[in-house]
Amino acid sequence: MTLSMNSPDKIIRADCISKVFVHEGVEIRPFHNVSLEIRRGEMLAIMGPSGSGKSTLLHVLGGIEPPSSGDIWIEGHNVAKLSDRDRTLLRRRRIGFIFQSFNLVPTLTVSENVALPLILDGVASRDAASRALASLQRVGLSDRLSHLPTQLSGGEQQRVAIARALVIKPALVLADEPTGNLDSARGRDITLMLRDVAHENHQTVVVVTHDLRVASHADRLIVLLDGRVTYNGKPGTDAELVAALKQEIDV
Ligand SMILES: Nc1ncnc2c1ncn2[C@@H]1O[C@H](COP(=O)(O)OP(=O)(O)OP(=O)(O)O)[C@@H](O)[C@H]1O
Ligand SMILES: [Mg+2]
Repeated sequence: MTLSMNSPDKIIRADCISKVFVHEGVEIRPFHNVSLEIRRGEMLAIMGPSGSGKSTLLHVLGGIEPPSSGDIWIEGHNVAKLSDRDRTLLRRRRIGFIFQSFNLVPTLTVSENVALPLILDGVASRDAASRALASLQRVGLSDRLSHLPTQLSGGEQQRVAIARALVIKPALVLADEPTGNLDSARGRDITLMLRDVAHENHQTVVVVTHDLRVASHADRLIVLLDGRVTYNGKPGTDAELVAALKQEIDV
């Protein structure tokens, strides 16, 4: 792999990306011509109404699905130009994804789910288990190691998904509503932990959220409305913006 992006402090660059879905002959365009740069060590929040394309944008930014047009660069690699193998390795080693629907493996225990990214990458099982334990301790779940996902509450499943994303110490954490199932105290703990991940470990955190309290801890907020980025700046500094967001988002 060769580095072909000029600024190494930018972990992601999205150039004019658009996404079009065609469903039963009808086109859906979640976002159109979005350009974005994300710095290393930055915590970026993305807000927007339900259906505005936040999850789709996160999947495209993480190379999970391709944009319909435009280019994504992750750590200097043009994702579309990588071989399938290199794209898989980039995702497995450099990106931790927290899915909105968690995507835990139902037949694996909590501990095995969190260890899975390490096992897939060839880490010995004993080492993987102890790193999984450390990651689960961080989210307060070290007492649920042998539970199956169906034996957990929604918020606990969410925290397992967070532990699994962080276990590889990824350069980039992409989190889709990571506090959506948590009470406000837990949600605050997880938000502050994600902020520490960005600021202390210099990992990058992109967090999609409906919650202004989560966004207020980010370094930068992007608002996605009608397929465009309608705000890109500091969160919580402009009372009118917050009021407008509240109307749009807090349904
Ligand atoms: N695979 C798909 N095929 C067709 N349409 C899709 C597909 N995935 C998403 N969409 C549509 O794209 C739009 C954006 O969906 P997306 O899940 O990105 O929204 P969102 O902003 O994350 O919403 P929420 O806040 O409810 O999670 C929606 O209208 C959705 O129906
Ligand atoms: Mg979503």
